[in-house]
Amino acid sequence: MKAKGVEQSIYGLAVRGVTKHFHRNKRTNDKIHFHQKIRQIFKREKEIVRAVDDISLAVNIGEIYGILGANGSGKSTLIRLISTLLIPDAGSIRVFGDDVVTDSLKVRRVMNRVSVEASFFKRLSSAENLIYAARLYGIPATEAERKAKQILERLGFDANRMNEEMEHLSRGMQQKVAIARALLTTPMLLLLDEPTTGLDPKSKRDVQAFIEEIRQERNAVIVLTTHDMAEAERLCDKIAIIDKGKFIAEGTVAELIADTPSQNGAPATLEDVFIALTGKAIEEEE
Ligand SMILES: Nc1ncnc2c1ncn2[C@@H]1O[C@H](COP(=O)(O)OP(=O)(O)OP(=O)(O)O)[C@@H](O)[C@H]1O
Ligand SMILES: [Mg+2]
Repeated sequence: MKAKGVEQSIYGLAVRGVTKHFHRNKRTNDKIHFHQKIRQIFKREKEIVRAVDDISLAVNIGEIYGILGANGSGKSTLIRLISTLLIPDAGSIRVFGDDVVTDSLKVRRVMNRVSVEASFFKRLSSAENLIYAARLYGIPATEAERKAKQILERLGFDANRMNEEMEHLSRGMQQKVAIARALLTTPMLLLLDEPTTGLDPKSKRDVQAFIEEIRQERNAVIVLTTHDMAEAERLCDKIAIIDKGKFIAEGTVAELIADTPSQNGAPATLEDVFIALTGKAIEEEE
């Protein structure tokens, strides 16, 4: 199949016209009477949400592709679709030429995802969790421990706490363990779903510096979602702005800024671009 070969040699990740709907309970109108609201809840009226709406993108090896969007705009849904956790209703996703639906096992082997809702064995230590994960990939325990220590140190994680139960670690520390776990192996596709949300400023910088190092060291495709304009600007070769499930702009920071009129003569910032396109400022959770 010639077409597949051509695509494989061009893009590490190719997303074409992907859509994902969810059914959710219909939102109740605040102005209606209490008894009407109760009736609506019991009737369980459903509405359709287009969480991801006809999205296409392509990422080359060695590139970091950023997806910038507010809460609920569809970032995690898109990441879950790429990572084979959800099946698209329409469109196709190829990872190094393999389809995420029909070749999902192959895709899972070359990809790792980091998200804020990462799950661990909470009663085990981070060292034990990392060794467990490494063994699933066939990495010997001693090598896993050495590698894990090295990554955690680069992330500013106090190595003395590696033997503490996970449930005693702060959310930010757990986030660093999740990043280390994803990088014990050498994924060719790395999906980072808000890797720095909720981290303190120093940890944020540590994680960002680490992501930059990975880009230099490994020939990987990296997709990163964020609410943080400065982070997108610092790390991403290309940025897509997502709003209500749709990509409303895509380009390098310079291209996005060039397309936005300057504010009172001052050059536009990425934030101006976001506000001009979505009509609102992005809200930081922290
Ligand atoms: N499993 C699900 N069932 C129903 N609706 C869902 C489901 N997952 C996501 N949604 C809806 O899809 C939309 C997009 O959600 P998603 O989690 O992708 O947003 P997000 O951009 O990652 O937001 P955040 O910045 O808060 O993480 C939201 O309206 C959300 O309520
Ligand atoms: Mg999300």
